Amino acid sequence: MNYKISHRAASLSPSLTLVIDSKAKAMKAEGLDVVGFGAGEPDFDTPQHIKDGASKALADGFTKYTPSSGIPELRSAIAEKFQRENGLTYKPSQVIVSCGGKHSCYNVILATCEEGDEVIIPSPYWLSYPEMVRLASATPVIVETTDATEFKMTPAQLRAALTPRTRLLVLTTPSNPTGSVYTPDEVRALGDICVEHGVLIMSDEIYEHLLYDGAVHKSVASFSQAHQDHTIIVHGFAKAWSMTGWRLGFLAAPEPIAKAIDAIQSHSTSNPTSFAQKGGVAALTGSQAHLPLWLAEYAKRRTYAHQRLNAMPGVSCVNSKGAFYLFPNIAKLGLKSADFCSQLLATQHVAAVPGIAFGAEGYLRISYATSLANIEKGLDRMETFVKTLHG
Ligand SMILES: Cc1ncc(COP(=O)(O)O)c(C=O)c1O
Repeated sequence: MNYKISHRAASLSPSLTLVIDSKAKAMKAEGLDVVGFGAGEPDFDTPQHIKDGASKALADGFTKYTPSSGIPELRSAIAEKFQRENGLTYKPSQVIVSCGGKHSCYNVILATCEEGDEVIIPSPYWLSYPEMVRLASATPVIVETTDATEFKMTPAQLRAALTPRTRLLVLTTPSNPTGSVYTPDEVRALGDICVEHGVLIMSDEIYEHLLYDGAVHKSVASFSQAHQDHTIIVHGFAKAWSMTGWRLGFLAAPEPIAKAIDAIQSHSTSNPTSFAQKGGVAALTGSQAHLPLWLAEYAKRRTYAHQRLNAMPGVSCVNSKGAFYLFPNIAKLGLKSADFCSQLLATQHVAAVPGIAFGAEGYLRISYATSLANIEKGLDRMETFVKTLHG
């Protein structure tokens, strides 16, 4: 049988981070001692009160369809979060709860972009954005950044990339994969240009709460009503509440865009899982005491890994200010990032993601969402590998 696969699907490649993660897991299942730097998820468990919120919902029989854009209780709790933490006023009707932050991003792109539209994506980028743009028949326009600017796009770069077809800018701060964080002034400068040119901004703020060294997160929507009117914020429960498997994300948008997304979601996934949404309510309205503990742990690991990476011959690494990633430069070692990572996995049993997966050759992504002991072991092995290349 000759199965016809649509151009849309055939042009996609599976997410390389998930591929590497499953390869590492398969090696582990064979009994090999693999150190995983590949995962984009916290190594901490979901806090107990959040699990209790979902368990109670299940026990109470909260197991039916909900409104497709989420239960009113959760949409209100999210609107309150934006008011409390970001000084942003949204009506609950402007908030859509989806099946993960990834789903929120996809909804935004589908609702706002079509053939002929250009979407500006600074690289290194979270690897799903360009594929989502292509799925919407629009065109990704990649603006390259390097460690020389801490992987941040400058206003001049943004201006140079604008065309009359530019529809959307994707802004991710704190960033996956680099951990870089734009300062409030830097965010404002990019936001001003978008407002001036009538370009929408998809502001991915899923790592908002994971900040180090006094870094500050300021949403681009928060500078003026005009900025808010040009911005769709995407967010989710995966990172700051360690709920990756729950598949729960959310967005806040200008009313007409929220309405369009509501329609898309009502015909595609319908509601996110009913009892997971109750967990989301517990996450936003309950204790946040876990967060400083996690941040202290991440900060220790980051400092250690940053120092170890910079001590390796031929490797340099700017320090990150957010999320749980470092993005070392390995260009001097003379291997393409994909070859570097596959040899590192095969010979030293260390899993990291090649920079090329994020549109940035010459780098790799190290996730420090794993124990300090693992980080020490993994970096010992990486150092051994690097020395074989450098020598
Ligand atoms: C920048 C960024 N946005 C969105 C997501 C989506 O997360 P989820 O779909 O698990 O909520 C991720 C997850 O890795 C991410 O790194």
